[in-house]
Amino acid sequence: MRIVKVPLGSRSYEIKIGPGLLDRLGAECARLKLGKRCAIISDTTVARRFGTAARRPLARSDFDVAQITLPAGETAKSLKSVQECYDRLAAHRLDRKSFIVALGGGVVGDLAGFVASTYLRGIAFVQVPTTLLAQVDSSVGGKVGVNLKAGKNLVGAFYQPRLVLCDLDTLATLPRREFAAGLAEVIKYGIISDSALFERLERNLSKLVALEPRMLEAVVALCCKIKAGVVRQDEKEGGPRAILNFGHTIGHALEAISHYGKYLHGEAISIGQVAAARLSAQLLGLRESDVERIADLFRRAGLPTRVSLSASQRKHLFAAMQLDKKVTAGQLKFVLARKIGKVEFGHEVPTRLIMRVLNDA
Ligand SMILES: NC(=O)c1ccc[n+]([C@@H]2O[C@H](COP(=O)([O-])OP(=O)(O)OC[C@H]3O[C@@H](n4cnc5c(N)ncnc54)[C@H](O)[C@@H]3O)[C@@H](O)[C@H]2O)c1
Ligand SMILES: [Zn+2]
Repeated sequence: MRIVKVPLGSRSYEIKIGPGLLDRLGAECARLKLGKRCAIISDTTVARRFGTAARRPLARSDFDVAQITLPAGETAKSLKSVQECYDRLAAHRLDRKSFIVALGGGVVGDLAGFVASTYLRGIAFVQVPTTLLAQVDSSVGGKVGVNLKAGKNLVGAFYQPRLVLCDLDTLATLPRREFAAGLAEVIKYGIISDSALFERLERNLSKLVALEPRMLEAVVALCCKIKAGVVRQDEKEGGPRAILNFGHTIGHALEAISHYGKYLHGEAISIGQVAAARLSAQLLGLRESDVERIADLFRRAGLPTRVSLSASQRKHLFAAMQLDKKVTAGQLKFVLARKIGKVEFGHEVPTRLIMRVLNDA
């Protein structure tokens, strides 16, 4: 097992990464000295697979456990689900010492974290992420929230968990496509801050895809460490945290114009990162050979690297990018790479260049 610390003063917590950790959930929560009542929030798919495995160790440590199960998928990340959770928590008489366990992917983590941040003005919560994306990204850093009809993640808070428990065994049942989507964030960490990680992925991608235990543990821990380091510098996204959005301006816009139906988030940001690498070559002198290495690694991970858009779709894409949160005073700001392992935020990119890069792709 590896432990990554997220040092945020009184809000500090640990991320524990390894196989078989679900069985220690009760002991870990007991160590945190949390109250006796808790609720596991999960989705139908995850609850079917791991619900009992999570309840059993909690019961063994004398916790009184309620189970709240929501439908699987992004649409459950809504205020309607939040309301349903509040009602269930109240019915189960959870009090201020009680806590919530988020058992599932990023959807469950974001939703359950938001519920925890607001129920009784905030109760403790523990993240038990079961997708690769949630283990390396969404469960770390304290961004919680839900979607509105008008857009994703429009209601939320910064609210840190008390513990993140990444049981690597849970990834064995994750569909290949979901695993690949998580790899898009893993590769991102290499590009934004760790060329050695990038090279390691180039050498050992097949081991990672095969869930080779040592490789998986090392890589998940490294990604958490990188994210923890960024979050530590900038908990509330005032500046440096923006580098985590490499490839996301175009990626988010692609997700939006396809109404969140065509691409998984990881697939959209794979296309976005390759486009951002091409822009980096034009504007920051990233080597063409490195652009090719980047595109190649995403391809090998089974992710899309290009998109063909009609003229009207391109227009929609630009409109969607303008709506993205990273636009200030009407100018699109991008995270661009100087080299693999080093990126910079705040580069203004002329629209015609984005157009050209997307046309070339
Ligand atoms: N808070 C943040 O900082 C942050 C960062 C990135 C993404 N997110 C959010 O995360 C969400 C996406 O998360 P996700 O990709 O984990 O999606 P998800 O939670 O929808 O999970 C994907 C699918 O996999 C299933 N699943 C989960 N674990 C499984 C397992 N072990 N075996 C089999 N099936 C399993 C789920 O039921 C679901 O159908 C988005 O809502 C996004 O906005 C948040
Ligand atoms: Zn992302």
